[in-house]
Amino acid sequence: MAYPQFPQGFLFGAATAAYQIEGGWNADGKGPSIWDTFAHTPGKVVNGDTGDVACNTYHDFQTDINIMSDLGLSAYRFSVSWPRVLPEGKGRVNPKGLDYYNRLVDALLEKNIRPFVTLFHWDLPQALMDECGGFVGRDCAGYFADYAAVVVKSLGDRVKNWITINEPWEHVCEGYFLGTTPPGRQNPWQYFRAAHHILLGHGMAVDRIRAISPDAQVGITLSLTPIFPKTDAAKDRQAARVADQFLNDFYLDAILRGKYPELLWNRMWLFRPRVEPGDMQIISRPLDFLGVNFYSREYAHYVWYIPFLQAWVDGSFTAEEETIINGMQYTASGREVFPPALYDLLLRLKDEYGNLLMYITENGAAFTDRVENGQVHDPLRVAYLEGYMEQAARAIRDGVNLKGYFIWSLTDNFEWTLGFAKRFGLVYVDYATQQRIIKDSGTWYRDLIRNQDCHTNTNRLRVAPFKDV
Ligand code: FCB
Repeated sequence: MAYPQFPQGFLFGAATAAYQIEGGWNADGKGPSIWDTFAHTPGKVVNGDTGDVACNTYHDFQTDINIMSDLGLSAYRFSVSWPRVLPEGKGRVNPKGLDYYNRLVDALLEKNIRPFVTLFHWDLPQALMDECGGFVGRDCAGYFADYAAVVVKSLGDRVKNWITINEPWEHVCEGYFLGTTPPGRQNPWQYFRAAHHILLGHGMAVDRIRAISPDAQVGITLSLTPIFPKTDAAKDRQAARVADQFLNDFYLDAILRGKYPELLWNRMWLFRPRVEPGDMQIISRPLDFLGVNFYSREYAHYVWYIPFLQAWVDGSFTAEEETIINGMQYTASGREVFPPALYDLLLRLKDEYGNLLMYITENGAAFTDRVENGQVHDPLRVAYLEGYMEQAARAIRDGVNLKGYFIWSLTDNFEWTLGFAKRFGLVYVDYATQQRIIKDSGTWYRDLIRNQDCHTNTNRLRVAPFKDV
Protein backbone atom coordinates (compact mmCIF):
# COMPACT_ATOMS: atom_id res chain seq x y z
CA MET A 1 0.00 0.00 0.00
CA ALA A 2 1.33 3.44 -0.88
CA TYR A 3 0.99 5.97 1.90
CA PRO A 4 0.94 9.76 1.51
CA GLN A 5 4.50 11.00 2.02
CA PHE A 6 5.49 13.99 4.15
CA PRO A 7 8.79 15.82 4.65
CA GLN A 8 11.27 15.14 7.41
CA GLY A 9 10.16 16.58 10.74
CA PHE A 10 6.45 16.57 9.85
CA LEU A 11 4.34 16.02 12.96
CA PHE A 12 1.79 13.23 12.96
CA GLY A 13 -0.71 13.91 15.71
CA ALA A 14 -4.23 13.53 16.97
CA ALA A 15 -6.49 16.04 18.68
CA THR A 16 -9.04 16.10 21.50
CA ALA A 17 -10.72 18.72 23.69
CA ALA A 18 -11.23 18.82 27.45
CA TYR A 19 -15.01 18.70 27.70
CA GLN A 20 -15.24 15.99 25.07
CA ILE A 21 -12.98 13.50 26.86
CA GLU A 22 -12.07 14.36 30.44
CA GLY A 23 -15.14 13.64 32.53
CA GLY A 24 -14.52 14.53 36.19
CA TRP A 25 -16.86 17.45 35.56
CA ASN A 26 -16.94 18.48 39.23
CA ALA A 27 -13.87 16.62 40.52
CA ASP A 28 -11.25 18.19 42.77
CA GLY A 29 -12.69 21.68 42.85
CA LYS A 30 -13.43 22.19 39.16
CA GLY A 31 -16.05 24.87 38.52
CA PRO A 32 -18.95 24.31 36.12
CA SER A 33 -18.62 25.37 32.49
CA ILE A 34 -21.41 26.49 30.20
CA TRP A 35 -21.25 23.06 28.61
CA ASP A 36 -21.92 21.38 31.97
CA THR A 37 -24.95 23.62 32.41
CA PHE A 38 -26.17 23.05 28.87
CA ALA A 39 -25.73 19.28 28.83
CA HIS A 40 -27.45 18.99 32.22
CA THR A 41 -30.50 20.72 30.75
CA PRO A 42 -32.95 18.09 29.45
CA GLY A 43 -33.46 18.09 25.70
CA LYS A 44 -30.29 19.90 24.74
CA VAL A 45 -28.06 16.96 23.80
CA VAL A 46 -29.01 13.84 21.83
CA ASN A 47 -30.01 11.00 24.19
CA GLY A 48 -29.49 13.27 27.20
CA ASP A 49 -25.74 12.56 27.03
CA THR A 50 -23.35 14.68 29.07
CA GLY A 51 -19.61 15.06 29.43
CA ASP A 52 -19.79 14.13 33.11
CA VAL A 53 -17.72 10.98 32.55
CA ALA A 54 -17.00 10.96 28.78
CA CYS A 55 -13.71 9.08 28.17
CA ASN A 56 -12.70 9.41 31.82
CA THR A 57 -9.27 10.81 30.98
CA TYR A 58 -9.34 13.05 34.04
CA HIS A 59 -8.89 9.84 36.01
CA ASP A 60 -6.80 7.91 33.50
CA PHE A 61 -4.86 9.57 30.72
CA GLN A 62 -2.08 7.02 30.66
CA THR A 63 -4.06 4.40 28.76
CA ASP A 64 -4.50 6.75 25.81
CA ILE A 65 -0.93 8.02 25.96
CA ASN A 66 0.28 4.43 25.73
CA ILE A 67 -1.92 3.95 22.67
CA MET A 68 -0.52 7.12 21.07
CA SER A 69 2.96 5.88 21.73
CA ASP A 70 2.18 2.49 20.19
CA LEU A 71 0.76 4.21 17.11
CA GLY A 72 3.94 6.29 16.85
CA LEU A 73 2.32 9.72 17.16
CA SER A 74 4.75 12.59 17.46
CA ALA A 75 2.31 15.20 18.78
CA TYR A 76 -0.93 15.44 20.73
CA ARG A 77 -3.30 18.39 20.73
CA PHE A 78 -5.47 18.67 23.83
CA SER A 79 -7.23 21.54 25.55
CA VAL A 80 -7.15 22.88 29.07
CA SER A 81 -10.47 23.32 30.83
CA TRP A 82 -10.60 26.95 31.98
CA PRO A 83 -12.93 26.26 34.95
CA ARG A 84 -10.78 23.35 36.07
CA VAL A 85 -7.90 25.77 36.50
CA LEU A 86 -9.92 28.84 37.56
CA PRO A 87 -13.26 27.62 38.97
CA GLU A 88 -14.74 31.13 38.87
CA GLY A 89 -13.06 31.96 35.57
CA LYS A 90 -10.78 34.51 37.24
CA GLY A 91 -8.93 35.04 40.49
CA ARG A 92 -8.60 31.90 42.59
CA VAL A 93 -6.49 29.12 41.07
CA ASN A 94 -7.43 25.48 41.65
CA PRO A 95 -4.03 23.79 42.25
CA LYS A 96 -5.42 20.32 41.61
CA GLY A 97 -6.63 21.41 38.21
CA LEU A 98 -3.22 22.72 37.22
CA ASP A 99 -1.61 19.62 38.68
CA TYR A 100 -3.66 17.45 36.34
CA TYR A 101 -2.31 19.23 33.26
CA ASN A 102 1.23 19.14 34.65
CA ARG A 103 1.02 15.38 35.03
CA LEU A 104 -0.48 15.01 31.57
CA VAL A 105 2.31 17.04 29.97
CA ASP A 106 4.99 15.09 31.83
CA ALA A 107 3.47 11.79 30.76
CA LEU A 108 3.42 12.90 27.12
CA LEU A 109 7.03 14.05 27.19
CA GLU A 110 7.98 10.80 28.83
CA LYS A 111 6.79 9.10 25.61
CA ASN A 112 8.37 11.73 23.35
CA ILE A 113 5.01 13.13 22.28
CA ARG A 114 4.95 16.88 21.78
CA PRO A 115 2.06 18.66 23.52
CA PHE A 116 0.07 21.24 21.54
CA VAL A 117 -2.11 22.96 24.10
CA THR A 118 -5.37 24.72 23.23
CA LEU A 119 -6.33 27.21 25.92
CA PHE A 120 -10.00 27.56 25.02
CA HIS A 121 -12.07 24.88 23.36
CA TRP A 122 -15.53 26.24 24.24
CA ASP A 123 -15.94 25.22 27.91
CA LEU A 124 -16.28 28.76 29.22
CA PRO A 125 -16.59 29.06 33.02
CA GLN A 126 -20.28 29.39 33.91
CA ALA A 127 -19.30 32.10 36.39
CA LEU A 128 -18.17 34.35 33.54
CA MET A 129 -21.33 33.70 31.59
CA ASP A 130 -23.21 34.86 34.66
CA GLU A 131 -20.98 37.86 35.21
CA CYS A 132 -20.61 39.33 31.74
CA GLY A 133 -22.36 37.07 29.24
CA GLY A 134 -19.11 35.36 28.32
CA PHE A 135 -17.29 37.08 25.45
CA VAL A 136 -20.22 39.42 24.89
CA GLY A 137 -18.61 41.32 27.76
CA ARG A 138 -15.39 43.08 26.85
CA ASP A 139 -13.94 42.16 30.25
CA CYS A 140 -13.95 38.52 29.22
CA ALA A 141 -11.05 39.19 26.83
CA GLY A 142 -8.87 40.30 29.74
CA TYR A 143 -10.01 37.40 31.92
CA PHE A 144 -9.03 35.02 29.14
CA ALA A 145 -5.56 36.55 28.87
CA ASP A 146 -5.13 36.32 32.66
CA TYR A 147 -6.14 32.66 32.57
CA ALA A 148 -3.73 32.01 29.68
CA ALA A 149 -0.94 33.55 31.79
CA VAL A 150 -1.72 31.22 34.71
CA VAL A 151 -1.50 28.15 32.49
CA VAL A 152 1.62 29.25 30.61
CA LYS A 153 3.43 30.09 33.85
CA SER A 154 2.73 26.57 35.04
CA LEU A 155 3.39 24.56 31.85
CA GLY A 156 5.49 26.90 29.72
CA ASP A 157 8.83 25.37 30.70
CA ARG A 158 7.73 22.16 28.91
CA VAL A 159 4.96 23.17 26.51
CA LYS A 160 6.18 25.21 23.54
CA ASN A 161 3.18 25.10 21.20
CA TRP A 162 0.13 27.11 22.22
CA ILE A 163 -3.21 27.54 20.51
CA THR A 164 -5.17 30.37 22.06
CA ILE A 165 -8.70 29.64 20.84
CA ASN A 166 -10.31 26.76 19.00
CA GLU A 167 -12.72 27.81 16.26
CA PRO A 168 -13.98 31.18 17.49
CA TRP A 169 -16.69 31.21 14.81
CA GLU A 170 -18.28 28.00 16.08
CA HIS A 171 -18.25 29.11 19.70
CA VAL A 172 -19.76 32.52 19.15
CA CYS A 173 -21.94 31.92 16.11
CA GLU A 174 -23.56 28.73 17.32
CA GLY A 175 -23.83 30.12 20.85
CA TYR A 176 -25.07 33.67 20.20
CA PHE A 177 -26.39 33.81 16.65
CA LEU A 178 -27.80 30.40 15.78
CA GLY A 179 -28.50 29.49 19.39
CA THR A 180 -27.73 25.80 18.94
CA THR A 181 -25.02 25.56 21.63
CA PRO A 182 -24.59 27.33 24.97
CA PRO A 183 -25.63 29.96 25.84
CA GLY A 184 -28.28 29.33 23.17
CA ARG A 185 -28.96 32.91 22.08
CA GLN A 186 -30.11 34.22 18.72
CA ASN A 187 -28.89 37.77 18.79
CA PRO A 188 -26.76 39.24 15.99
CA TRP A 189 -25.63 42.19 18.16
CA GLN A 190 -24.33 39.81 20.80
CA TYR A 191 -22.79 37.65 18.13
CA PHE A 192 -20.60 40.39 16.70
CA ARG A 193 -19.65 41.73 20.11
CA ALA A 194 -18.62 38.25 21.24
CA ALA A 195 -16.74 37.69 17.96
CA HIS A 196 -14.77 40.91 18.39
CA HIS A 197 -14.03 40.27 22.05
CA ILE A 198 -12.93 36.67 21.58
CA LEU A 199 -10.48 37.90 18.93
CA LEU A 200 -9.32 40.61 21.32
CA GLY A 201 -8.86 37.97 24.02
CA HIS A 202 -6.78 35.97 21.54
CA GLY A 203 -4.49 38.94 20.83
CA MET A 204 -4.14 39.83 24.51
CA ALA A 205 -3.28 36.22 25.31
CA VAL A 206 -0.63 36.16 22.56
CA ASP A 207 1.13 39.07 24.28
CA ARG A 208 0.95 37.42 27.68
CA ILE A 209 2.22 34.07 26.41
CA ARG A 210 5.18 35.68 24.67
CA ALA A 211 6.05 37.75 27.75
CA ILE A 212 6.12 34.64 29.94
CA SER A 213 7.62 32.19 27.48
CA PRO A 214 9.69 33.97 24.81
CA ASP A 215 10.49 30.76 22.92
CA ALA A 216 6.84 29.70 22.69
CA GLN A 217 5.22 29.10 19.31
CA VAL A 218 1.80 30.73 19.40
CA GLY A 219 -1.13 30.35 17.05
CA ILE A 220 -4.89 30.16 16.80
CA THR A 221 -7.10 27.47 15.28
CA LEU A 222 -9.81 28.45 12.79
CA SER A 223 -12.30 26.17 11.12
CA LEU A 224 -12.13 27.15 7.47
CA THR A 225 -14.96 26.19 5.18
CA PRO A 226 -14.72 26.89 1.45
CA ILE A 227 -18.08 28.26 0.32
CA PHE A 228 -19.51 27.72 -3.15
CA PRO A 229 -22.70 29.18 -4.64
CA LYS A 230 -25.48 26.62 -4.80
CA THR A 231 -26.48 27.75 -8.29
CA ASP A 232 -24.95 30.05 -10.83
CA ALA A 233 -27.58 32.74 -10.19
CA ALA A 234 -26.11 36.15 -9.33
CA LYS A 235 -27.94 36.22 -6.00
CA ASP A 236 -26.45 32.90 -4.96
CA ARG A 237 -22.97 33.95 -6.03
CA GLN A 238 -23.30 37.09 -3.93
CA ALA A 239 -24.63 35.00 -1.03
CA ALA A 240 -21.54 32.79 -1.28
CA ARG A 241 -19.23 35.82 -1.11
CA VAL A 242 -20.93 37.21 1.97
CA ALA A 243 -21.09 33.81 3.63
CA ASP A 244 -17.38 33.28 2.94
CA GLN A 245 -16.62 36.56 4.68
CA PHE A 246 -18.94 35.71 7.56
CA LEU A 247 -17.48 32.26 8.20
CA ASN A 248 -13.88 32.64 7.15
CA ASP A 249 -12.56 36.10 6.27
CA PHE A 250 -13.98 37.87 9.29
CA TYR A 251 -11.52 35.88 11.41
CA LEU A 252 -8.69 35.46 8.92
CA ASP A 253 -8.59 39.13 7.95
CA ALA A 254 -8.85 40.39 11.50
CA ILE A 255 -6.02 38.16 12.70
CA LEU A 256 -3.74 38.27 9.68
CA ARG A 257 -4.55 41.70 8.19
CA GLY A 258 -5.81 43.69 11.14
CA LYS A 259 -9.17 44.58 9.56
CA TYR A 260 -12.61 43.16 9.08
CA PRO A 261 -13.64 42.36 5.49
CA GLU A 262 -15.28 45.30 3.77
CA LEU A 263 -18.32 43.80 2.10
CA LEU A 264 -19.52 42.20 5.31
CA TRP A 265 -18.53 45.19 7.45
CA ASN A 266 -20.64 47.47 5.25
CA ARG A 267 -23.59 45.16 5.29
CA MET A 268 -23.54 44.65 9.06
CA TRP A 269 -23.50 48.36 9.89
CA LEU A 270 -26.45 48.01 12.24
CA PHE A 271 -24.78 45.20 14.16
CA ARG A 272 -21.20 46.40 14.27
CA PRO A 273 -19.39 45.87 17.56
CA ARG A 274 -17.62 48.78 19.20
CA VAL A 275 -13.98 48.64 18.11
CA GLU A 276 -11.76 50.65 20.44
CA PRO A 277 -8.57 52.33 19.16
CA GLY A 278 -5.76 49.79 19.21
CA ASP A 279 -8.03 46.73 19.20
CA MET A 280 -7.17 45.67 15.66
CA GLN A 281 -3.44 45.96 16.37
CA ILE A 282 -3.84 43.65 19.36
CA ILE A 283 -5.98 41.20 17.40
CA SER A 284 -3.44 41.04 14.59
CA ARG A 285 -0.31 40.33 16.62
CA PRO A 286 2.09 38.31 14.45
CA LEU A 287 1.62 34.58 14.93
CA ASP A 288 4.01 31.67 14.65
CA PHE A 289 1.44 29.47 12.99
CA LEU A 290 -2.14 29.15 11.88
CA GLY A 291 -4.09 26.07 12.93
CA VAL A 292 -6.54 24.94 10.27
CA ASN A 293 -9.51 22.73 11.09
CA PHE A 294 -10.92 21.31 7.92
CA TYR A 295 -14.05 19.23 7.49
CA SER A 296 -15.78 20.05 4.21
CA ARG A 297 -16.84 22.60 1.64
CA GLU A 298 -20.37 24.00 1.84
CA TYR A 299 -22.90 25.62 -0.48
CA ALA A 300 -24.58 28.99 0.04
CA HIS A 301 -27.77 30.36 -1.45
CA TYR A 302 -29.77 33.55 -1.21
CA VAL A 303 -32.46 33.89 1.44
CA TRP A 304 -34.32 37.12 2.12
CA TYR A 305 -34.99 36.65 5.80
CA ILE A 306 -31.54 36.78 7.38
CA PRO A 307 -30.65 40.40 8.05
CA PHE A 308 -27.39 41.72 6.51
CA LEU A 309 -26.25 38.28 5.30
CA GLN A 310 -29.13 37.27 3.06
CA ALA A 311 -27.34 33.99 2.73
CA TRP A 312 -27.81 30.54 4.09
CA VAL A 313 -25.17 27.84 4.12
CA ASP A 314 -26.33 24.28 3.75
CA GLY A 315 -24.71 22.61 6.71
CA SER A 316 -25.04 19.08 7.89
CA PHE A 317 -28.07 17.06 6.98
CA THR A 318 -29.66 14.83 9.54
CA ALA A 319 -29.22 11.36 8.12
CA GLU A 320 -28.56 8.83 10.86
CA GLU A 321 -25.73 7.15 9.01
CA GLU A 322 -23.22 7.79 6.26
CA THR A 323 -24.66 7.81 2.78
CA ILE A 324 -23.91 8.50 -0.85
CA ILE A 325 -25.72 11.36 -2.60
CA ASN A 326 -25.20 12.10 -6.29
CA GLY A 327 -22.13 9.91 -6.25
CA MET A 328 -20.51 11.74 -3.33
CA GLN A 329 -19.77 10.06 -0.01
CA TYR A 330 -21.17 11.80 3.07
CA THR A 331 -20.02 11.07 6.62
CA ALA A 332 -22.32 10.09 9.48
CA SER A 333 -22.43 13.72 10.59
CA GLY A 334 -23.49 14.86 7.16
CA ARG A 335 -20.24 16.17 5.71
CA GLU A 336 -19.47 15.74 2.06
CA VAL A 337 -16.15 13.96 1.47
CA PHE A 338 -14.23 15.97 -1.11
CA PRO A 339 -10.47 15.99 -0.43
CA PRO A 340 -9.38 18.38 -3.24
CA ALA A 341 -11.10 21.17 -1.30
CA LEU A 342 -8.38 20.90 1.33
CA TYR A 343 -5.66 21.37 -1.30
CA ASP A 344 -7.44 24.41 -2.73
CA LEU A 345 -7.89 25.94 0.71
CA LEU A 346 -4.23 25.50 1.66
CA LEU A 347 -3.08 27.03 -1.63
CA ARG A 348 -5.50 29.93 -1.19
CA LEU A 349 -4.17 30.60 2.31
CA LYS A 350 -0.61 30.51 1.02
CA ASP A 351 -1.33 32.87 -1.85
CA GLU A 352 -3.56 35.34 -0.03
CA TYR A 353 -2.08 35.53 3.45
CA GLY A 354 1.64 34.99 2.90
CA ASN A 355 3.30 31.64 3.22
CA LEU A 356 2.31 31.09 6.83
CA LEU A 357 3.45 28.13 8.81
CA MET A 358 0.34 25.99 9.22
CA TYR A 359 -0.81 22.87 10.94
CA ILE A 360 -3.96 20.93 10.20
CA THR A 361 -5.18 20.99 13.78
CA GLU A 362 -8.29 18.91 13.02
CA ASN A 363 -9.50 16.72 10.21
CA GLY A 364 -11.46 13.53 10.54
CA ALA A 365 -14.84 11.92 10.15
CA ALA A 366 -17.72 10.25 11.93
CA PHE A 367 -18.72 6.93 10.47
CA THR A 368 -20.82 4.18 11.96
CA ASP A 369 -18.47 1.81 13.75
CA ARG A 370 -19.37 -1.69 14.82
CA VAL A 371 -17.33 -4.00 17.00
CA GLU A 372 -16.93 -7.42 15.35
CA ASN A 373 -14.92 -10.06 17.18
CA GLY A 374 -13.15 -7.39 19.17
CA GLN A 375 -12.20 -5.38 16.08
CA VAL A 376 -13.53 -2.27 14.38
CA HIS A 377 -13.24 -2.21 10.60
CA ASP A 378 -13.71 1.33 9.36
CA PRO A 379 -12.69 1.37 5.69
CA LEU A 380 -14.61 4.58 5.01
CA ARG A 381 -12.57 6.44 7.62
CA VAL A 382 -9.34 5.02 6.21
CA ALA A 383 -10.35 6.17 2.73
CA TYR A 384 -11.32 9.58 4.10
CA LEU A 385 -8.03 10.12 5.89
CA GLU A 386 -5.99 8.80 3.02
CA GLY A 387 -7.76 11.17 0.62
CA TYR A 388 -7.28 14.28 2.76
CA MET A 389 -3.72 13.49 3.81
CA GLU A 390 -2.75 12.92 0.19
CA GLN A 391 -4.11 16.37 -0.68
CA ALA A 392 -2.15 17.88 2.20
CA ALA A 393 1.01 16.17 0.96
CA ARG A 394 0.32 17.51 -2.53
CA ALA A 395 -0.09 21.03 -1.15
CA ILE A 396 3.29 20.74 0.57
CA ARG A 397 4.88 19.64 -2.71
CA ASP A 398 3.38 22.81 -4.22
CA GLY A 399 5.00 25.04 -1.64
CA VAL A 400 2.55 25.20 1.26
CA ASN A 401 4.33 25.52 4.61
CA LEU A 402 2.40 22.79 6.42
CA LYS A 403 4.24 21.19 9.30
CA GLY A 404 1.86 18.76 10.91
CA TYR A 405 -1.49 16.99 10.84
CA PHE A 406 -3.73 16.29 13.82
CA ILE A 407 -6.48 13.79 13.18
CA TRP A 408 -9.78 14.45 14.91
CA SER A 409 -9.93 12.51 17.04
CA LEU A 410 -7.69 10.20 19.01
CA THR A 411 -10.64 8.45 20.64
CA ASP A 412 -14.39 8.51 20.15
CA ASN A 413 -15.77 11.20 22.43
CA PHE A 414 -18.62 13.53 23.36
CA GLU A 415 -19.54 15.21 20.09
CA TRP A 416 -21.23 18.29 21.57
CA THR A 417 -25.00 18.39 20.85
CA LEU A 418 -24.73 15.01 19.13
CA GLY A 419 -23.54 13.41 22.36
CA PHE A 420 -21.89 10.00 22.00
CA ALA A 421 -23.97 9.12 18.96
CA LYS A 422 -21.24 10.11 16.49
CA ARG A 423 -17.81 8.47 16.62
CA PHE A 424 -14.75 10.25 15.20
CA GLY A 425 -11.97 8.27 16.89
CA LEU A 426 -9.01 6.34 15.58
CA VAL A 427 -9.72 4.39 18.76
CA TYR A 428 -13.12 3.01 19.66
CA VAL A 429 -14.42 3.67 23.18
CA ASP A 430 -16.89 1.40 24.91
CA TYR A 431 -18.40 4.00 27.22
CA ALA A 432 -19.84 1.43 29.63
CA THR A 433 -16.48 -0.18 30.37
CA GLN A 434 -14.04 2.49 29.13
CA GLN A 435 -12.39 -0.22 27.07
CA ARG A 436 -10.43 0.99 24.02
CA ILE A 437 -10.12 -0.80 20.67
CA ILE A 438 -7.76 0.55 18.03
CA LYS A 439 -9.80 0.79 14.83
CA ASP A 440 -8.40 -0.18 11.44
CA SER A 441 -7.94 3.57 10.82
CA GLY A 442 -5.65 3.74 13.88
CA THR A 443 -3.57 0.88 12.53
CA TRP A 444 -3.53 2.53 9.11
CA TYR A 445 -2.21 5.77 10.67
CA ARG A 446 0.49 3.82 12.52
CA ASP A 447 1.54 2.21 9.25
CA LEU A 448 1.53 5.54 7.42
CA ILE A 449 3.86 6.95 10.08
CA ARG A 450 6.12 3.89 9.87
CA ASN A 451 6.20 4.01 6.09
CA GLN A 452 7.51 7.50 5.55
CA ASP A 453 10.31 6.95 3.04
CA CYS A 454 12.58 9.77 4.10
CA HIS A 455 12.54 9.37 7.84
CA THR A 456 11.25 6.11 9.13
CA ASN A 457 9.77 7.05 12.46
CA THR A 458 12.36 9.73 13.22
CA ASN A 459 9.82 12.48 13.64
CA ARG A 460 9.38 11.75 17.29
CA LEU A 461 10.54 14.52 19.54
CA ARG A 462 14.00 13.95 20.90
CA VAL A 463 14.92 16.99 22.92
CA ALA A 464 13.04 19.97 24.25
CA PRO A 465 12.58 22.81 23.42
CA PHE A 466 11.72 21.86 19.85
CA LYS A 467 13.68 24.53 18.04
CA ASP A 468 13.23 22.69 14.76
CA VAL A 469 9.69 23.84 13.99
C1 FCB B 1 -14.91 20.70 15.40
C2 FCB B 1 -14.64 20.85 16.87
C3 FCB B 1 -14.26 19.57 17.56
C4 FCB B 1 -15.07 18.39 17.07
C5 FCB B 1 -15.10 18.35 15.57
C6 FCB B 1 -15.87 17.19 15.01
O1 FCB B 1 -15.68 21.76 14.95
O2 FCB B 1 -13.56 21.77 17.07
O3 FCB B 1 -14.36 19.77 18.95
O4 FCB B 1 -16.32 18.40 17.64
O5 FCB B 1 -15.64 19.55 15.06
